[in-house]
Amino acid sequence: MAIDAVIGAQWGDEGKGKIVDLLSKSMDYVARYQGGANAGHTVYYNDKKLVLHQIPAGILRKKCICILGKGMVIDPVGINEEINLLTENNIDFNDRILIDYYAHVVTPLHKIIDKNNELKTKNFIGTTCKGIGPTYADKYNRIGIRIIDLLDLSNLKNKINNRLQLGLDKQEIYVDDKEEIDIELEKFYQSCELIKPFILDTHPIIHNNINNSIPMLIEGAQGTLLDIDHGTFPFVTSSNCSSAGISTGLGIPSYHLSKIIGIFKAYVTRVGGGPFPTELFDNDGMQLQKIGKEVGATTGRARRCGWFDLVAAKYSAEVNGLTHIALTKLDILDNFDNIKVCTHYEYKNKKITNFSNVINDLENVKPIYKEFSGWSEPTCNVTTFDDFPLKVKEYVSFISDSLNVPISIISLGPKRNQIINIET
Ligand code: GDP
Ligand code: IMO
Ligand code: MG
Repeated sequence: MAIDAVIGAQWGDEGKGKIVDLLSKSMDYVARYQGGANAGHTVYYNDKKLVLHQIPAGILRKKCICILGKGMVIDPVGINEEINLLTENNIDFNDRILIDYYAHVVTPLHKIIDKNNELKTKNFIGTTCKGIGPTYADKYNRIGIRIIDLLDLSNLKNKINNRLQLGLDKQEIYVDDKEEIDIELEKFYQSCELIKPFILDTHPIIHNNINNSIPMLIEGAQGTLLDIDHGTFPFVTSSNCSSAGISTGLGIPSYHLSKIIGIFKAYVTRVGGGPFPTELFDNDGMQLQKIGKEVGATTGRARRCGWFDLVAAKYSAEVNGLTHIALTKLDILDNFDNIKVCTHYEYKNKKITNFSNVINDLENVKPIYKEFSGWSEPTCNVTTFDDFPLKVKEYVSFISDSLNVPISIISLGPKRNQIINIET
């Protein structure tokens, strides 16, 4: 089989962009199945840092065609901004961006509803304010606007005007928002026109690829612990980021998947609200944040940092059916004398190894750690697993053995060549 998937296995920002860029080298297609411009996937092109939000990272590889699947929520304004970024960097994208007719559309209204919802709620989620939740809500309410609606501008305008009135009636938006919406709508309609050449029915292409064993890579966005069904609800995003979303978001039955590669940082980060059992509030946490340059690629917010959590990781491996692991940012741990891994939680005087037992009350679990002494030497120039200091091997093998999933890639820096492939 020729389809592999890259899935965020924590709370997002695990380094999916870098790994997709690496693996798409040998792929003809890269497809996204969920989420939208809430994603921020960092890649390096000619040594320049670029952040992609909706267009899959495969766009950097000349022969790769990028599919934005029907499970995504597409922001046409954002797509245009990304296309401008590609143009500025001389990245050819002609005939290489395919946006599915049946993906839902994020309009300026949805972004304002997102912002207003955050201002009103008691459960402040800390969304990216990219309109993701409200757009998926309209989809499930069966009133959403889809990419195919862009083909008929007057019908599109009618739909948006109706949605605007509904928003005012339901006090999702206010008369005061109208001026901003009108300005943004003008930009929005221009962007809708500009992205028309990219829109089509991707189903026949995907299934032609399957029938002819044409290699495809699936790019996940966000992370499993932010999954609407399997994550730390309500502090989640509004899509299925786990591998299950591939079937609905692209119409690819799961038995077609070959490798399901879970991306884990060698520690954990989270941006936005919600429980985080291994979060550190001490100097170690500050060092992880500082040395790891843990700042959100989409929102610029500082990411919360903590030690690797095996309880959450095991759950993530189970939910996704991970066949392989890519461990990223291991180089950041070069700087620590002691490194900890959470092996289980204590909760109401019980030992907990099953994340789902306590997922609704994670604020009250106590993480119990196994401590490793740090290797305290740079790993950035290591090129094979065998060349790692013993202490690195111990740390990496402990994670892999505990999860019973092989680690096939270790990333030791943000650049393309800072990578170790391991035969599994
Ligand atoms: P994504 O959303 O999963 O694609 O991850 P982000 O791009 O939001 O965040 C990952 C950050 O870590 C980016 O700034 C990457 O350039 C950087 N990065 C990725 N892998 C490594 C690594 O192995 N070491 C270091 N030091 N940085 C990395
Ligand atoms: P990538 O693909 C990290 C988080 C937000 C917030 C919650 C809901 O770069 O890993 P949303 O705007 O989706 O309604 O926000 O989800 N979030 C992310 N955190 N990485 C992401 O994407 C994220 N996308 C959304 O911070 O807590
Ligand atoms: Mg990111």
